Amino acid sequence: MASSAMISLASPSPSLSLKDKLKPKLKLGASVNQTSLFFKDSVKTKLFTRTTMAVAADVSRFENITMAPPDPILGVSEAFRADTHEMKLNLGVGAYRTEDLQPYVLNVVKKAENLMLERGENKEYLPIEGLAAFNKVTAELLFGAENSVILQHRVATVQGLSGTGSLRLAAALIERYFPGAKVIISSPTWGNHKNIFNDARVPWSEYRYYDPNTVGLDFDGMIADVKAAPEGSFVLLHGCAHNPTGIDPTPEQWKIIADVIQEKKHIPFFDVAYQGFASGSLDEDASSVRLFADRGMEILVAQSYSKNLGLYAERIGAINVVCSTADTAARVKSQLKRLARPMYSNPPVHGARIVSNVVGNPELFREWKEEMELMAGRIKSVRQKLYDSLCAKDKSGKDWSFILQQIGMFSFTGLNKAQSENMTNKWHVYMTKDGRISLAGLSSAKCEYLADAIVDSYHNVS
Ligand SMILES: Cc1ncc(COP(=O)(O)O)c(C=O)c1O
Repeated sequence: MASSAMISLASPSPSLSLKDKLKPKLKLGASVNQTSLFFKDSVKTKLFTRTTMAVAADVSRFENITMAPPDPILGVSEAFRADTHEMKLNLGVGAYRTEDLQPYVLNVVKKAENLMLERGENKEYLPIEGLAAFNKVTAELLFGAENSVILQHRVATVQGLSGTGSLRLAAALIERYFPGAKVIISSPTWGNHKNIFNDARVPWSEYRYYDPNTVGLDFDGMIADVKAAPEGSFVLLHGCAHNPTGIDPTPEQWKIIADVIQEKKHIPFFDVAYQGFASGSLDEDASSVRLFADRGMEILVAQSYSKNLGLYAERIGAINVVCSTADTAARVKSQLKRLARPMYSNPPVHGARIVSNVVGNPELFREWKEEMELMAGRIKSVRQKLYDSLCAKDKSGKDWSFILQQIGMFSFTGLNKAQSENMTNKWHVYMTKDGRISLAGLSSAKCEYLADAIVDSYHNVS
C-alpha cells in the first residue's frame, strides 16, 4: 500500500489538477480518514490513494506536535546569552568557570590528548560495553582498587553516555528486570532524574530531603519515607554534593540510611556526578558508596566525568552494578549490553581514552588531584566570600550560615520562584527558579554584586 502510494506520487500524473480541485473542500489538517470517507464512493481506489497522499503532504504530518517547554536548566543559558547587561551572571548551569568566568580545560586533559595523538590511536568502534581500560579504572576509582567487590569481580561496569546516559541505562535495566518496582528520589533532586525515569517508564515517587525552615536536611522525613516505600524499591541517592541543595548527610546519617535500606530490602542506586569535586578528595567523596559496598549490599552506581575532569561535551561516564557474585555480575553486564546495543550501539571513545590515560597514569593522576583541589578550592573561596558579603550587607539578623554548610558546586539560597525571577529580571543573575545557584559560575569580583541581588530579592520580594 505504502509503496504503491509512493510510486503514484512520483509519477507525472493528472492528479495534480485533481488535487487542486480538492483543495477548497479540505480543511488544513484534515486527516487521511476524513479524506477517505469523503471520496469513498466517487473515486477509484488507486486514484484515491494517490490523492490522499498528495493532500496530506500539503499539511505537515507533524502538525499535532506542540512546542516543548525550554529545559529549566539549559534554557537559562539561552536566556543569559541574549542578555547584554555588563554585570550579567550565569549561575544556572553546573559548569566550572575560571576566576575570569571562562570555561576551563584541565591541563591533564590536554596532556592526555597529546598522548593520544602521539600514539596515533584509531577511531574503530568500541565494544558495546566500552573501552576495557576505562571500565577498569572507573570502577577502581569509585570503589578503591583493593575493594573486595573489585577483587571478587562482582561489579558489572559498562561505559555510558556520561551520567545521564548511565542513569538511563540503569533505568532501562530496572524497567526490564524489576517490572513495577519503584524508584524513590529526593525532593528536590536534579531536574533530569524525573525525565529519565518517566521516559524509561519506571514509576517513581519522592522522599523528603530538604527542610525549608532550616535550609538543611529533613533527616527524619527522609528516613520515614524510605521506611514507608514498598519493600524492594530502588532508592536514588546522590553520592556527594547533592544537586540542587548542596546538603549531604553526615557520615553518621549515612549509616542510618544504609540500615533502613537494608532492613527494607531496598536497592541503593547512587548517582555520583561530583566525585572529587565536592570535598577536593576522590576517596572522601566516594565514602558513601563504599559504606554500602562494604556491607555487602547489591548497589547501582552511575558515574560522570563531566564535572571532575571538565569533560562535559565528551559524554563519558559509566554504570556499575555491584552484585553478590561474579557470575551474577557477568549476566547483568550481558543484559546491560543488550539494552545499550539498540539505543546507541556502542559509546564514543575519546572521553574514555582521556579518563583511562589520566587515571591509569600515576603522574597524570597526581596532577589531576591537584587541579581538582584547585577547582574545589576556588568554589569554596567564593562560597566564603558570598557568605561574608551577605553578612556585611544584610542588617536584618538573618542567619546565612547554611551557605557555608552546603557543599559542592551549588548553593540552595532558599529564594522562592518570585525572588529568583527578581534576581534575573532586575539583577541579570541567571539561575533556576528553585533558588539554586551554581557557585562554579561565580567570581570573587562578583560576590558583592550577587549579595546585593540576594538581599534585595529576599527582603523586597515576597
Ligand atoms: C546529580 C546529577 N546527576 C547527573 C548529572 C549528569 O550530568 P552528565 O550527563 O553531564 O554527566 C548531573 C549534571 O548536572 C547531576 O547534577
